[in-house]
Amino acid sequence: MFRTITGSQFGDEGKGKLVDWLSEDADIVVRFQGGDNAGHTVKVEETTLKLSLIPSAVLNDKRLLLGAGMSVNPGKVEEEIEELKKTGRTITPEMLGIDLNASVIMPYHIKMDELVEEQRENSIGTTKRGIGNAYQDKASRDEIRVSDFRDEERFRSKVEEILSKKEERIKELGGDFEDLKQKSLSYIQKYSDLMTEYSTDVSREIHEALEEGRKVLAEGAQGTFLDVLNGTHKYVTSSHTTAGAVCPYLGIGPSHVDSAAGVMKAYITRVGKGPLPTELGGETGETLREKGGEFGTNTGRPRRCGWLDLILGKKAVNLNGYDWIALTKLDVLSGFEEIKICTAYKKDGEKLVYPPATSEDLENVEPIYETVEGWDEDITDAESMEDLPENARKYVEKVEKTLGTEIKVVSVGPKRSQTIIRKEL
Ligand code: IMP
Repeated sequence: MFRTITGSQFGDEGKGKLVDWLSEDADIVVRFQGGDNAGHTVKVEETTLKLSLIPSAVLNDKRLLLGAGMSVNPGKVEEEIEELKKTGRTITPEMLGIDLNASVIMPYHIKMDELVEEQRENSIGTTKRGIGNAYQDKASRDEIRVSDFRDEERFRSKVEEILSKKEERIKELGGDFEDLKQKSLSYIQKYSDLMTEYSTDVSREIHEALEEGRKVLAEGAQGTFLDVLNGTHKYVTSSHTTAGAVCPYLGIGPSHVDSAAGVMKAYITRVGKGPLPTELGGETGETLREKGGEFGTNTGRPRRCGWLDLILGKKAVNLNGYDWIALTKLDVLSGFEEIKICTAYKKDGEKLVYPPATSEDLENVEPIYETVEGWDEDITDAESMEDLPENARKYVEKVEKTLGTEIKVVSVGPKRSQTIIRKEL
């Protein structure tokens, strides 16, 4: 059984909690794209951990894998293993495996991300973790891979060769080339044991698990509309974030995928720039941000907030082929007298029921809302749909009907216990 779970909006939909919960029933939890630009908060008793690479399923003692499609910062791997140690959890190569063909994020990637962002006329608002620069190198075949840590000579000569191509650009951007070169070369001493010890063949592990009837859960990072191809270009990340990307990034075929679940927040948020048709300025946006704790896990940046956009929602269902959806953070909507749902757009006087294909056109749409009645009650203790006020129930039903996809799970708070299973999974 192979399941995927991806964010249906712009990231930060509450995937971490869902993955943690669904992973109870999985043998392997695997990430397939991105790197430490993702972020999730994990609570271990009294300690709160902010993890960005190791999946939150670490608490469930599952086999955790980082796939070949990822860009991995070895310093972060080390840091997160150390952080987890402080909570009494010893991470071993039996628990965590990193694909031999995954890209390595090098010091020059991070520096160039920083410098390019600062100097761009229209900055993207990246997380400055060097992710895009590492993916660029993957496409140009100038990457350091995890497997290069097994051979010091190869590692050194690849770094030298890659840097010779980047020298001019780094200097032009104002970077300290010699310093970056030394830092990059020092990685072989610093991280070769760690990276070699944890390295594995993720594709093979997945196929062996599936043949033995074990269950694999693939966890997406970022969100559908940050997909480098299908998202809101150019304000996107540099990898494919949609469910089908598990195939190339993990080395499996479409017929191996049994189910694709989407996580959708009951409203919408976005960090960084780019179109967000239902964005709310003023008091309502501020209330959603404060009530929802909408500040970046990694960067602390305030998230832009807006009403739920079901036009983007419909496209997300298509792009990912969702067979069910988990609607999260419904509790944040408690206390609004009226709630709006975007069910169409207006552009150049015309009504649209599907997003325009390009980002530039999406920038220029005006949301058309349906207004529904809100509810006052605190719903964080609700254990079933019957425990919800009628208007909250109606909200869920309306979203489900408009999307034409089953909402099987409703989340009403950050704890595992605050999860309503509406329909059998
Ligand atoms: P990058 O992934 O650091 O290159 O950033 C590209 C865009 O993706 C920026 O707008 C980031 O804010 C956004 N982004 C990257 N990772 C996340 C995430 O985990 N959640 C939400 N937005 C993200």
